[in-house]
Amino acid sequence: MIFTDLIEKKKRGGELTEREIKFFVESVCSGSVPDYCISAFLMAVVLKGMTFNETLALTLCMRDSGEILRKGEIKGVCVDKHSTGGVSDSTTLIIVPVCAVLGLKFAKLSGRGLGYTGGTIDKLESFRGFNAQLSEGEFTRIVNETGGAISGHTAQTVPADKKLYALRDVTCTVDSIPLIASSVMSKKLASFADVIVLDVKYGSGTFMKTAESAEELAGIMVEIGKAAGRKVSAAVTSMNCPLGNSVGCNAEMRGVIDVLKGAENDLAALSKFLAVQILACAGWDKKEAEAACENAISSGAALNKLKEIVRAQGGDAAALDDPELLRYGKYKREIICDKGGFINKIDGEAIGRANVITGGGRRKKDDAIDHESAVLLHLRTGDETRRGSVLATVFSNDEGSLDDAVRMIQGAFYVSDVPPEKEILIHKLIV
Ligand code: URA
Repeated sequence: MIFTDLIEKKKRGGELTEREIKFFVESVCSGSVPDYCISAFLMAVVLKGMTFNETLALTLCMRDSGEILRKGEIKGVCVDKHSTGGVSDSTTLIIVPVCAVLGLKFAKLSGRGLGYTGGTIDKLESFRGFNAQLSEGEFTRIVNETGGAISGHTAQTVPADKKLYALRDVTCTVDSIPLIASSVMSKKLASFADVIVLDVKYGSGTFMKTAESAEELAGIMVEIGKAAGRKVSAAVTSMNCPLGNSVGCNAEMRGVIDVLKGAENDLAALSKFLAVQILACAGWDKKEAEAACENAISSGAALNKLKEIVRAQGGDAAALDDPELLRYGKYKREIICDKGGFINKIDGEAIGRANVITGGGRRKKDDAIDHESAVLLHLRTGDETRRGSVLATVFSNDEGSLDDAVRMIQGAFYVSDVPPEKEILIHKLIV
């Protein structure tokens, strides 16, 4: 087979066979074709799309390009979740302990943050000593012993995605439904979860700008999961306002602790919704699942479970008893509202970018981050504000970065004379 024939066929909108897709993935992994050929193929996919059968074949070939984790000794229903990414999205850190308390086995492979979106692993590293690079044996042992473990992907899982994602990132070929679906689902299917619940975001700072495109992506991922023999469902949710009230590792960890102590906000609502969905896919009655989730939180069991998981992974869990130990940067500035009205929108991407400027996010994959960098939002979309009200506070250990961050956060708040239409957090559930 000749690689350029594949580019030509896709350029003309043809449907590739399974053999051709296998050849594509093998060529990517073996390094036998130059990056410019792979990039041309990716752009042809962006422009011409892929049929469901092509997308499924691509997903399975990518999954098979590396190590596949085995369920091994883990007993019981194994569950997993995935969010397509957003600012201040800490739902995993609430859902994992809640589901573990209720008897599920949560084997979560997570990533680090890149750019303006945060990463679950970075947030967990707010606990000194936390080990996010568990071996397969440690991972399964901790899942068995505590009910949950959260670890980074190994270099051996889905190498095809690592290569393709790095190229997509620099060739404007990320925002393609078949490419996102195969990238996400190849990683989910390389692990052993029986149940997978997806949170597909749309709005500011996400790949899908509209609810309709997010719905299409969600539908394809659910079908891929089912074709691979897993129980999969997907929530389509809005990111037109950051999910929690804070951005930055220590600040978001404090937000998680608040929810595990009973706070009610968007982060709590979405976390409980997704946890109930996971339990329902695992065979629970929905009403019973809702009551059990509430009880896991109100009894303090979920917070205790998070302590147990952090300790099992080598972390110092003292901050879960005393959140003040999760410090903020030593310099702080307030962002003051310059006119009265109603907050119509908060641009999550701009808030996330301000956190990168102050040291809380990465510009490049291997950058170190400052866990103490934080943006606290005091008002949310829909709230009334006055000239002089404090919209947000930003903290950093890098005083020189604060002017730029303040400007960026100020620009993230859209204030108008009329209140906005009520934003729907959970748009749709696809099962
Ligand atoms: N997340 C992924 O893992 N892959 C994509 O292509 C987009 C978001």
